[in-house]
Amino acid sequence: MAESSWWRDAVIYQVYPRSWADSDGDGIGDLPGVTARLGHLTWLGVDALWLSPFYTSPQHDAGYDVSDYRDVDPRFGTLADFDALLSRAHELGLRVIVDLVPNHTSSEHPWFQEALRAAPGGPERARYLFRDGRGENGDEPPNNWSSTFGGPGWTRIVEPDGSPGQWYLHLFDTTQPDLDWSNPEVRDELESVLRFWLDRGVDGFRVDVAHGLVKADGLPDADMPHGYLTVPTSLAPMWDQPGIHDVYRRWRQITDEYARPGEDADRILCAEAWVKPADALARYVRDDELHQSFNFEFLMTPWLAEDLRHTITETLSAAEAVGAPQTWVLSNHDVVRHASRLGFEQSHGLTPPRGIGPDDPQPDAALGLRRARAATTVMLALPGSAYLYQGEELGLPEASRLPDDVRQDPTWERSSHSQPGRDGCRVPMPWEGSTPSLGFGPGAESWLPQPPEYGALAVDRQRSVEGSTLELYRKLLSLRRELRPGLGTLTWYDAGSDDVLAFTISAADGRVVLVLANLGASPARLPDGARLLVSSSPDVSNGIDVPIDTAVWAEIDHPG
Ligand code: GLC
Repeated sequence: MAESSWWRDAVIYQVYPRSWADSDGDGIGDLPGVTARLGHLTWLGVDALWLSPFYTSPQHDAGYDVSDYRDVDPRFGTLADFDALLSRAHELGLRVIVDLVPNHTSSEHPWFQEALRAAPGGPERARYLFRDGRGENGDEPPNNWSSTFGGPGWTRIVEPDGSPGQWYLHLFDTTQPDLDWSNPEVRDELESVLRFWLDRGVDGFRVDVAHGLVKADGLPDADMPHGYLTVPTSLAPMWDQPGIHDVYRRWRQITDEYARPGEDADRILCAEAWVKPADALARYVRDDELHQSFNFEFLMTPWLAEDLRHTITETLSAAEAVGAPQTWVLSNHDVVRHASRLGFEQSHGLTPPRGIGPDDPQPDAALGLRRARAATTVMLALPGSAYLYQGEELGLPEASRLPDDVRQDPTWERSSHSQPGRDGCRVPMPWEGSTPSLGFGPGAESWLPQPPEYGALAVDRQRSVEGSTLELYRKLLSLRRELRPGLGTLTWYDAGSDDVLAFTISAADGRVVLVLANLGASPARLPDGARLLVSSSPDVSNGIDVPIDTAVWAEIDHPG
């Protein structure tokens, strides 16, 4: 496999800069903090990191509200700090992907401020989706779209002369006005932003709300509820509209210009697109469009062997049909951490951005962790690329009992306190078990309180500890580098029970690896002669049955 196609089986680790490491003690993580801790990633054995937004932003949506796309927010550091991070990462052999937020700007972006000062109908307003209201006095929103975070998707402004004015669309918070992607000025500006970061040397972009940029002509009313998981997505006039693909064909030309095959590696684009069904999502990764898109269908699949088999088959074949590698992800900064999500009965629906609050049913921590370790063991053997979210290598649970008064996710207010939101998966990392902010920063400050159980899960409490979640991840990643299952082909394997998920992968060196996960109610048996490579639970050894909620990799001679 040519080095330029590194992304086809890469493991990419998501760093949420607010919460990874705080170098200056203000309680908010920063870029120098990330640089100082990069050694954790090389020690762990990942290929790349993805940085959530660190750009200038009022932080109404934790940086996904950008007011200057070409600068670093002072809370996170400076452009020089970014350059230092990038060059240190490259020295260590880590590639760096940054987040691009093209669907909306912050309401503090100069463009939106100009639009508010300008008259209706002018070019300043045409960069966004300003419309007159409905009803006699224009006091009804232009259509019935709602915000993903709850409440209406439109806000009415006051015109410069003090009169009640037009409305602007925001599919997220009121402070995140949607851009109008039919306007060439918007397209040009975001292309120029891509080039700005490519020129600085980044290895790619994770594209925020990649399915939302283009809206249906005329902004028609939506006749169905829409959120992160509308099905099929294209029925919602704000998501997955056909015109989006022109944008990505253009962007692919730009990243290809920077790829210089043979001398330098590909720069990649990965879509955050909550699009269903799988073949609609695969359209984003045709060979002249984006390189990857997150497979959220896998993340949302219940812990049931039959369902997982179905999702893996469907999503793999959809990606293969367009020649793209599939991606796999179990956690990120928008969803309940998988060590908690899997600690519920199957029926517990947890669609983002809902979260878990102190008054909600609480997950079973031991069950969740056991299943999470098994789920990751399966994920890291699947063909394609995998994304990890900071702290999952520690088995961190969701901080599900955060007090209401510390919540910062706009979802909490916009849903009138019916949805706790996503703060519970964003709590700062525990690095050291016994310092005041658990090693997150030099002092005690931490922008969200760390729950008591995080101390025992800190990096220094798990490093070199046999059987720890951290050592399991490290072992899986080291085997993955050796066997390259990400470039392999999956063949389903009949393990004799519908509740056992089993498949073989042919390793790069010709060895055959059996991956077996027991989701049933009784132990499952490995075939005779299987040689255990790794197990998600410490209580498995050669020749012993695979216990419930456990996954293993084992080398076998002949697929059965
Ligand atoms: C994406 C981000 C999420 C953010 C939203 C609006 O879904 O992952 O964190 O709130 O877009 O930008």
